[in-house]
Amino acid sequence: MGKRFLTILAVAVLMGTVVFLGLSGAAQEVPDHFVILSKLWKDHTKSGVEFSHKKHSAEYGAKCTDCHHVYENGKNVWKEGDKVQKCMECHNEPTIKGEKKLPEDKQKLNLKIAFHDNCQGCHKDMKKKDKAKYGKIPTTCIQCHPKQ
Ligand code: HEC
Ligand code: HEC
Ligand code: HEC
Ligand code: HEC
Repeated sequence: MGKRFLTILAVAVLMGTVVFLGLSGAAQEVPDHFVILSKLWKDHTKSGVEFSHKKHSAEYGAKCTDCHHVYENGKNVWKEGDKVQKCMECHNEPTIKGEKKLPEDKQKLNLKIAFHDNCQGCHKDMKKKDKAKYGKIPTTCIQCHPKQ
Protein backbone atom coordinates (compact mmCIF):
# COMPACT_ATOMS: atom_id res chain seq x y z
CA MET A 1 0.00 0.00 0.00
CA GLY A 2 1.26 3.45 -0.88
CA LYS A 3 1.84 6.15 1.65
CA ARG A 4 -0.68 8.33 -0.14
CA PHE A 5 -3.41 5.69 0.17
CA LEU A 6 -2.73 5.26 3.89
CA THR A 7 -3.00 9.00 4.42
CA ILE A 8 -6.34 9.13 2.60
CA LEU A 9 -7.54 6.15 4.63
CA ALA A 10 -6.50 7.78 7.90
CA VAL A 11 -8.28 11.03 7.00
CA ALA A 12 -11.41 9.10 5.99
CA VAL A 13 -11.45 7.21 9.30
CA LEU A 14 -10.96 10.42 11.25
CA MET A 15 -13.78 12.17 9.39
CA GLY A 16 -16.05 9.19 9.91
CA THR A 17 -15.37 9.33 13.63
CA VAL A 18 -16.14 13.03 13.80
CA VAL A 19 -19.42 12.53 11.93
CA PHE A 20 -20.30 9.55 14.13
CA LEU A 21 -19.60 11.45 17.35
CA GLY A 22 -21.59 14.40 16.05
CA LEU A 23 -24.61 12.29 15.16
CA SER A 24 -24.56 10.12 18.27
CA GLY A 25 -24.07 13.06 20.62
CA ALA A 26 -21.26 11.12 22.28
CA ALA A 27 -19.14 14.24 22.11
CA GLN A 28 -21.16 15.78 24.94
CA GLU A 29 -19.41 14.78 28.11
CA VAL A 30 -20.40 15.24 31.70
CA PRO A 31 -18.15 14.86 34.76
CA ASP A 32 -19.09 12.14 37.27
CA HIS A 33 -19.15 14.71 40.03
CA PHE A 34 -19.30 18.51 39.94
CA VAL A 35 -20.36 21.61 41.84
CA ILE A 36 -23.51 23.32 40.60
CA LEU A 37 -22.86 27.07 40.54
CA SER A 38 -24.93 28.56 37.73
CA LYS A 39 -23.63 31.56 35.84
CA LEU A 40 -27.11 33.09 35.66
CA TRP A 41 -26.42 34.50 39.11
CA LYS A 42 -23.51 36.90 39.37
CA ASP A 43 -23.99 37.49 43.08
CA HIS A 44 -24.48 34.11 44.68
CA THR A 45 -25.86 34.27 48.21
CA LYS A 46 -25.26 30.55 48.85
CA SER A 47 -22.39 28.18 48.31
CA GLY A 48 -22.34 25.96 45.23
CA VAL A 49 -23.95 22.53 45.53
CA GLU A 50 -21.97 19.27 45.30
CA PHE A 51 -23.62 16.90 42.87
CA SER A 52 -22.71 13.26 42.17
CA HIS A 53 -24.14 13.10 38.64
CA LYS A 54 -23.03 9.54 37.91
CA LYS A 55 -24.06 8.04 41.24
CA HIS A 56 -27.56 9.45 40.92
CA SER A 57 -28.16 7.30 37.82
CA ALA A 58 -25.89 4.34 38.56
CA GLU A 59 -26.55 3.88 42.29
CA TYR A 60 -29.55 5.94 43.40
CA GLY A 61 -31.95 4.79 40.70
CA ALA A 62 -32.69 8.22 39.21
CA LYS A 63 -33.64 8.20 35.51
CA CYS A 64 -32.18 10.76 33.09
CA THR A 65 -35.72 12.01 32.52
CA ASP A 66 -36.19 12.68 36.24
CA CYS A 67 -33.92 15.68 35.63
CA HIS A 68 -33.61 16.31 31.87
CA HIS A 69 -36.51 17.38 29.71
CA VAL A 70 -37.66 19.21 26.64
CA TYR A 71 -41.38 19.84 26.73
CA GLU A 72 -43.54 19.76 23.62
CA ASN A 73 -47.28 20.19 24.13
CA GLY A 74 -46.83 19.47 27.82
CA LYS A 75 -44.99 16.20 27.17
CA ASN A 76 -41.30 15.49 27.83
CA VAL A 77 -39.88 14.48 24.44
CA TRP A 78 -36.18 14.41 25.54
CA LYS A 79 -34.57 10.99 25.33
CA GLU A 80 -31.14 9.62 26.18
CA GLY A 81 -28.63 10.56 23.47
CA ASP A 82 -30.30 13.90 22.74
CA LYS A 83 -28.37 17.07 23.44
CA VAL A 84 -28.57 18.25 27.04
CA GLN A 85 -28.94 21.96 27.63
CA LYS A 86 -28.06 23.65 30.87
CA CYS A 87 -31.02 24.25 33.15
CA MET A 88 -30.44 28.02 32.94
CA GLU A 89 -30.76 28.03 29.14
CA CYS A 90 -34.52 27.65 29.64
CA HIS A 91 -34.98 28.46 33.32
CA ASN A 92 -33.57 31.94 32.89
CA GLU A 93 -35.80 33.81 35.35
CA PRO A 94 -33.23 34.85 38.01
CA THR A 95 -35.28 35.99 41.04
CA ILE A 96 -33.94 34.49 44.29
CA LYS A 97 -35.99 36.50 46.78
CA GLY A 98 -39.78 36.25 46.78
CA GLU A 99 -39.70 33.97 43.73
CA LYS A 100 -42.82 32.14 44.94
CA LYS A 101 -44.75 35.40 44.54
CA LEU A 102 -43.99 35.64 40.82
CA PRO A 103 -46.83 34.95 38.35
CA GLU A 104 -47.13 31.24 37.56
CA ASP A 105 -45.57 31.42 34.08
CA LYS A 106 -42.47 33.12 35.50
CA GLN A 107 -42.23 30.65 38.39
CA LYS A 108 -42.06 27.82 35.86
CA LEU A 109 -38.94 29.38 34.36
CA ASN A 110 -37.35 30.51 37.63
CA LEU A 111 -33.96 28.82 38.09
CA LYS A 112 -34.00 28.62 41.87
CA ILE A 113 -37.44 26.99 41.88
CA ALA A 114 -36.34 24.58 39.13
CA PHE A 115 -33.36 23.33 41.16
CA HIS A 116 -35.20 23.25 44.47
CA ASP A 117 -38.26 21.45 43.11
CA ASN A 118 -36.07 18.94 41.29
CA CYS A 119 -33.37 18.22 43.90
CA GLN A 120 -35.11 18.91 47.18
CA GLY A 121 -38.43 17.64 45.83
CA CYS A 122 -37.12 14.16 45.06
CA HIS A 123 -35.09 14.00 48.29
CA LYS A 124 -38.13 14.88 50.39
CA ASP A 125 -40.23 12.25 48.58
CA MET A 126 -37.58 9.58 49.18
CA LYS A 127 -37.35 10.46 52.86
CA LYS A 128 -41.11 10.37 53.24
CA LYS A 129 -41.24 6.94 51.58
CA ASP A 130 -38.44 5.33 53.61
CA LYS A 131 -37.18 7.32 56.54
CA ALA A 132 -34.91 4.54 57.81
CA LYS A 133 -33.10 4.22 54.48
CA TYR A 134 -33.00 7.89 53.49
CA GLY A 135 -32.60 9.55 56.89
CA LYS A 136 -29.44 11.33 55.74
CA ILE A 137 -30.59 12.44 52.29
CA PRO A 138 -30.00 16.22 52.00
CA THR A 139 -33.23 18.18 52.56
CA THR A 140 -32.11 21.16 54.65
CA CYS A 141 -30.38 24.31 53.34
CA ILE A 142 -27.08 23.58 55.01
CA GLN A 143 -26.91 19.99 53.74
CA CYS A 144 -26.86 21.23 50.15
CA HIS A 145 -25.30 24.67 50.71
CA PRO A 146 -22.60 24.13 53.35
CA LYS A 147 -21.18 27.37 54.67
CA GLN A 148 -17.58 27.96 53.55
C1 HEC B 1 -30.64 13.74 39.53
C2 HEC B 1 -30.62 14.59 38.35
C3 HEC B 1 -29.91 14.13 37.12
C4 HEC B 1 -29.93 12.86 36.54
C5 HEC B 1 -30.64 11.62 37.03
C6 HEC B 1 -29.15 12.97 35.33
N1 HEC B 1 -28.67 14.24 35.19
FE1 HEC B 1 -27.51 14.92 33.67
N2 HEC B 1 -27.28 16.71 34.64
C7 HEC B 1 -27.95 17.09 35.78
C8 HEC B 1 -27.57 18.44 36.15
C9 HEC B 1 -28.08 19.22 37.34
C10 HEC B 1 -26.63 18.86 35.19
C11 HEC B 1 -25.95 20.23 35.11
C12 HEC B 1 -26.90 21.16 34.42
C13 HEC B 1 -26.54 22.61 34.53
O1 HEC B 1 -25.38 22.92 34.82
O2 HEC B 1 -27.42 23.43 34.28
C14 HEC B 1 -26.47 17.74 34.25
C15 HEC B 1 -25.65 17.76 33.12
C16 HEC B 1 -25.64 16.80 32.14
C17 HEC B 1 -24.89 16.89 30.91
C18 HEC B 1 -23.94 18.02 30.52
C19 HEC B 1 -24.67 19.16 29.91
C20 HEC B 1 -23.72 20.29 29.57
O3 HEC B 1 -23.87 21.36 30.12
O4 HEC B 1 -22.81 20.08 28.79
C21 HEC B 1 -25.16 15.75 30.18
C22 HEC B 1 -24.62 15.37 28.82
C23 HEC B 1 -26.09 14.94 30.98
N3 HEC B 1 -26.35 15.61 32.16
C24 HEC B 1 -26.62 13.73 30.58
C25 HEC B 1 -27.34 12.87 31.41
C26 HEC B 1 -27.74 11.52 31.06
C27 HEC B 1 -27.49 10.83 29.72
C28 HEC B 1 -28.38 11.00 32.16
C29 HEC B 1 -28.90 9.59 32.38
C30 HEC B 1 -27.96 8.52 32.20
C31 HEC B 1 -28.38 12.04 33.18
N4 HEC B 1 -27.76 13.15 32.69
C32 HEC B 1 -28.95 11.92 34.44
C33 HEC B 1 -28.86 16.33 36.47
C34 HEC B 1 -29.11 14.98 36.25
C1 HEC C 1 -35.23 23.02 26.91
C2 HEC C 1 -35.69 23.85 28.00
C3 HEC C 1 -35.51 23.33 29.41
C4 HEC C 1 -34.38 22.83 30.00
C5 HEC C 1 -33.00 22.67 29.39
C6 HEC C 1 -34.74 22.51 31.37
N1 HEC C 1 -36.05 22.80 31.59
FE1 HEC C 1 -37.07 22.47 33.30
N2 HEC C 1 -38.80 23.03 32.38
C7 HEC C 1 -38.88 23.63 31.13
C8 HEC C 1 -40.25 24.07 30.90
C9 HEC C 1 -40.75 24.79 29.66
C10 HEC C 1 -40.99 23.70 32.03
C11 HEC C 1 -42.48 23.95 32.29
C12 HEC C 1 -43.30 22.82 31.79
C13 HEC C 1 -44.77 23.12 32.08
O1 HEC C 1 -45.33 23.93 31.36
O2 HEC C 1 -45.25 22.59 33.05
C14 HEC C 1 -40.04 23.05 32.95
C15 HEC C 1 -40.40 22.53 34.17
C16 HEC C 1 -39.50 22.13 35.15
C17 HEC C 1 -39.86 21.69 36.47
C18 HEC C 1 -41.26 21.48 36.99
C19 HEC C 1 -41.91 20.30 36.32
C20 HEC C 1 -41.11 19.02 36.44
O3 HEC C 1 -40.66 18.49 35.40
O4 HEC C 1 -40.93 18.54 37.55
C21 HEC C 1 -38.69 21.45 37.15
C22 HEC C 1 -38.56 20.99 38.59
C23 HEC C 1 -37.60 21.72 36.22
N3 HEC C 1 -38.14 22.12 35.01
C24 HEC C 1 -36.26 21.60 36.52
C25 HEC C 1 -35.22 21.63 35.57
C26 HEC C 1 -33.83 21.34 35.85
C27 HEC C 1 -33.26 20.99 37.21
C28 HEC C 1 -33.16 21.43 34.66
C29 HEC C 1 -31.71 21.11 34.37
C30 HEC C 1 -31.21 19.82 34.81
C31 HEC C 1 -34.14 21.80 33.64
N4 HEC C 1 -35.37 21.92 34.24
C32 HEC C 1 -33.86 22.00 32.29
C33 HEC C 1 -37.85 23.78 30.25
C34 HEC C 1 -36.56 23.32 30.43
C1 HEC D 1 -35.12 11.31 41.34
C2 HEC D 1 -34.61 11.55 42.68
C3 HEC D 1 -33.45 12.50 42.90
C4 HEC D 1 -33.21 13.71 42.30
C5 HEC D 1 -34.02 14.40 41.23
C6 HEC D 1 -32.02 14.25 42.93
N1 HEC D 1 -31.56 13.37 43.87
FE1 HEC D 1 -29.89 13.66 45.08
N2 HEC D 1 -30.18 11.82 45.88
C7 HEC D 1 -31.19 10.92 45.54
C8 HEC D 1 -30.98 9.67 46.26
C9 HEC D 1 -31.85 8.42 46.18
C10 HEC D 1 -29.80 9.84 47.04
C11 HEC D 1 -29.09 8.80 47.90
C12 HEC D 1 -29.50 8.89 49.33
C13 HEC D 1 -28.83 7.79 50.14
O1 HEC D 1 -28.63 6.69 49.64
O2 HEC D 1 -28.56 8.09 51.31
C14 HEC D 1 -29.34 11.22 46.80
C15 HEC D 1 -28.23 11.78 47.40
C16 HEC D 1 -27.74 13.06 47.19
C17 HEC D 1 -26.63 13.66 47.90
C18 HEC D 1 -25.78 13.02 49.02
C19 HEC D 1 -24.98 11.85 48.53
C20 HEC D 1 -24.06 12.19 47.41
O3 HEC D 1 -24.02 11.43 46.43
O4 HEC D 1 -23.37 13.22 47.48
C21 HEC D 1 -26.48 14.93 47.38
C22 HEC D 1 -25.45 15.97 47.80
C23 HEC D 1 -27.50 15.10 46.36
N3 HEC D 1 -28.26 13.95 46.28
C24 HEC D 1 -27.68 16.26 45.60
C25 HEC D 1 -28.64 16.40 44.61
C26 HEC D 1 -28.78 17.60 43.79
C27 HEC D 1 -27.92 18.83 43.88
C28 HEC D 1 -29.83 17.37 42.94
C29 HEC D 1 -30.40 18.26 41.89
C30 HEC D 1 -29.51 18.73 40.83
C31 HEC D 1 -30.35 16.04 43.25
N4 HEC D 1 -29.60 15.50 44.25
C32 HEC D 1 -31.44 15.46 42.60
C33 HEC D 1 -32.23 11.15 44.67
C34 HEC D 1 -32.39 12.28 43.87
C1 HEC E 1 -31.31 19.22 47.77
C2 HEC E 1 -30.41 20.32 47.67
C3 HEC E 1 -30.85 21.71 48.06
C4 HEC E 1 -31.47 22.10 49.23
C5 HEC E 1 -31.97 21.23 50.37
C6 HEC E 1 -31.54 23.54 49.18
N1 HEC E 1 -31.01 24.00 48.01
FE1 HEC E 1 -30.79 25.96 47.46
N2 HEC E 1 -30.10 25.37 45.63
C7 HEC E 1 -29.78 24.07 45.29
C8 HEC E 1 -29.19 24.07 43.97
C9 HEC E 1 -28.70 22.86 43.21
C10 HEC E 1 -29.14 25.42 43.55
C11 HEC E 1 -28.52 25.98 42.28
C12 HEC E 1 -27.10 26.39 42.67
C13 HEC E 1 -26.40 27.27 41.70
O1 HEC E 1 -26.54 27.08 40.48
O2 HEC E 1 -25.70 28.20 42.15
C14 HEC E 1 -29.73 26.21 44.62
C15 HEC E 1 -29.84 27.60 44.60
C16 HEC E 1 -30.19 28.39 45.69
C17 HEC E 1 -30.20 29.85 45.70
C18 HEC E 1 -29.86 30.78 44.52
C19 HEC E 1 -28.36 30.83 44.26
C20 HEC E 1 -27.57 31.69 45.21
O3 HEC E 1 -26.36 31.38 45.44
O4 HEC E 1 -28.06 32.70 45.76
C21 HEC E 1 -30.57 30.24 46.95
C22 HEC E 1 -30.73 31.66 47.47
C23 HEC E 1 -30.84 29.02 47.72
N3 HEC E 1 -30.59 27.91 46.91
C24 HEC E 1 -31.25 28.98 49.02
C25 HEC E 1 -31.62 27.83 49.72
C26 HEC E 1 -32.22 27.84 51.05
C27 HEC E 1 -32.48 29.08 51.88
C28 HEC E 1 -32.50 26.53 51.37
C29 HEC E 1 -33.21 25.99 52.59
C30 HEC E 1 -34.53 26.56 52.85
C31 HEC E 1 -32.03 25.70 50.24
N4 HEC E 1 -31.51 26.54 49.27
C32 HEC E 1 -32.10 24.33 50.19
C33 HEC E 1 -29.99 22.94 46.05
C34 HEC E 1 -30.57 22.90 47.30
